[in-house]
Amino acid sequence: MKVSEAILSRRSMRAFKPDPVPEATVRRILDVAKHAASNTNCQPWRVYVTMGAARHRVSNAIMAAIAAGEAPSSDYHVHGEPIEPYRGRQVTLGKALYGMLGIVKGDTAGTMRQALRNFLFFDAPVGMIVTMDRRHGEGQWIDCGSLLASIMLMAREEGLHTCPQAAFSNYHKVLRRELPIPDNEIVLFGIALGHADPQVVPNMLVPGRAAEEELVTWARE
Ligand SMILES: Cc1cc2nc3c(=O)[nH]c(=O)nc-3n(C[C@H](O)[C@H](O)[C@H](O)COP(=O)(O)O)c2cc1C
Repeated sequence: MKVSEAILSRRSMRAFKPDPVPEATVRRILDVAKHAASNTNCQPWRVYVTMGAARHRVSNAIMAAIAAGEAPSSDYHVHGEPIEPYRGRQVTLGKALYGMLGIVKGDTAGTMRQALRNFLFFDAPVGMIVTMDRRHGEGQWIDCGSLLASIMLMAREEGLHTCPQAAFSNYHKVLRRELPIPDNEIVLFGIALGHADPQVVPNMLVPGRAAEEELVTWARE
């Protein structure tokens, strides 16, 4: 697979098939992805891989916590202020995703049901939680983004799909109860990994990208 094919065929999948992913495949993905660049090669990340009973235990614990009224409390600001044009892009994505799922504006139960599917890793057989030591600098957040991209692209090489999930940071307290995540590690995001049919709802969602002039500034003289 060409790198461009991996990049362009990667989309966030939000409906996975139950087909299992062998541990050896997950290992191959991580063994390659760990070669992502990081500032001074500090490799600030840690990946908690859950599969089988552990994957379900984590999902069940978060669902039970939510049902018991535990409030979300992210370890960090997933989004900053609602400024344009970024907020507009966010709204466009939400409309497209919920529209495709037939969830209309004001349908709070439907919206909630879909949001909760995050915590089932959208039924993917493998769920990863990526953390880093909270004493790192801002440069290390960039490093972890680089790891995320490498994992998602390697998944494509293995014929698999992913969904990056900041939603998990909201329930880092539950994750700390279920996985050996120490207090000094910040829960950055989860990654759902598995087999997905890109043609089923809502996987066929293809969010657009801004035109070059909105993203790139050239300096030539
Ligand atoms: C760090 C990060 C966190 C994300 N968190 C979530 C999430 O919690 N739930 C979700 O459904 N999608 C999540 N996404 C997926 C984005 O919505 C998606 O990448 C964006 O809409 C572009 O779509 P694409 O990935 O299909 O190209 C996240 C993406 C990134 C990079």
